[in-house]
Amino acid sequence: MANCQARLESGLSRWLPSAATHPAVLHEAMRYAVLDGGKRIRPTLVYASGRAVGSDWEQLDRPACAVEFIHAYSLVHDDLPAMDDDDLRRGRPSCHKAFGEAMAILAGDALQTLGLYVLARDKSACDAATRLRMIETLALAAGSRGMVGGQTIDLAAAGRRLEIAELEDMHIHKTGALIRASVVLGALTRPGLAEATLERLDHYAKCIGLAFQIRDDILDVEGEADALGKLPGADLALEKPTYAALIGLDGAKQRAAELHEEAMDSLSGLDERADPLRWISLYIIERDR
Ligand code: IPE
Ligand code: IPE
Ligand code: MG
Ligand code: MG
Ligand code: MG
Repeated sequence: MANCQARLESGLSRWLPSAATHPAVLHEAMRYAVLDGGKRIRPTLVYASGRAVGSDWEQLDRPACAVEFIHAYSLVHDDLPAMDDDDLRRGRPSCHKAFGEAMAILAGDALQTLGLYVLARDKSACDAATRLRMIETLALAAGSRGMVGGQTIDLAAAGRRLEIAELEDMHIHKTGALIRASVVLGALTRPGLAEATLERLDHYAKCIGLAFQIRDDILDVEGEADALGKLPGADLALEKPTYAALIGLDGAKQRAAELHEEAMDSLSGLDERADPLRWISLYIIERDR
């Protein structure tokens, strides 16, 4: 974990233009939204997945940064007044509170393209065909058939009662898609990886991606602002359908535990190099932030 975090923080800081780069206010807002915050789960998954299949650390730095840039952009836009209207993120004022709405929209836009640029940029530790497949995977996961599609379902669902299947569909898109892409990106860095192994990792990722949002919904009820770095109660205030609202906190915890077990089963064919993936799955359902 410490190794992942150190590599990631230096990578993120290097890819982001300095705060003095013209136009300075945009780059300040981008750096504000990305640096010094967050659990960094998605990049940690890139590293854990890549290491599980024998890739080198160097091959994993770019995809790790790429997914975190896309994720950071999604948080900036998620907090906007037209969306969840949240004032606190990662323990400080949301990007639009600090820089204004227009700059938050633009910083989000620019972080999204930066994520893809990082993967495309030449002199990568991965060959061109691999880079292309990674860009395809991440772009698909972030777009209308992935995260943005899920955010659209989320907005339309406010104030409505969803069936469990509809709720899971929303979660799988808005949160699951990017988590899944993180695991797949890590694995894609390994040339010639067996499709069966990729499928197993992909199934693991589907399970933990859903579990991640279930836990996020639970924490919106049970969590403390200090630990969370965001204000709990936001889902209730906006009448968002959540697992907790639909089947209660105990039911939601039970479902998350089942998904953890299913994720473990998906990894059964992998050796101890996959232990960090096992640990992350457990962390996801037990975390308090
Ligand atoms: C929050 O993601 C948004 C969701 C998809 C639930 P994280 O809980 O990973 O947020 P950070 O990156 O740690 O701030
Ligand atoms: C956000 O889900 C999913 C994203 C794509 C950003 P939430 O709206 O529940 O995330 P938080 O609780 O604000 O972090
Ligand atoms: Mg939201
Ligand atoms: Mg939100
Ligand atoms: Mg939430």
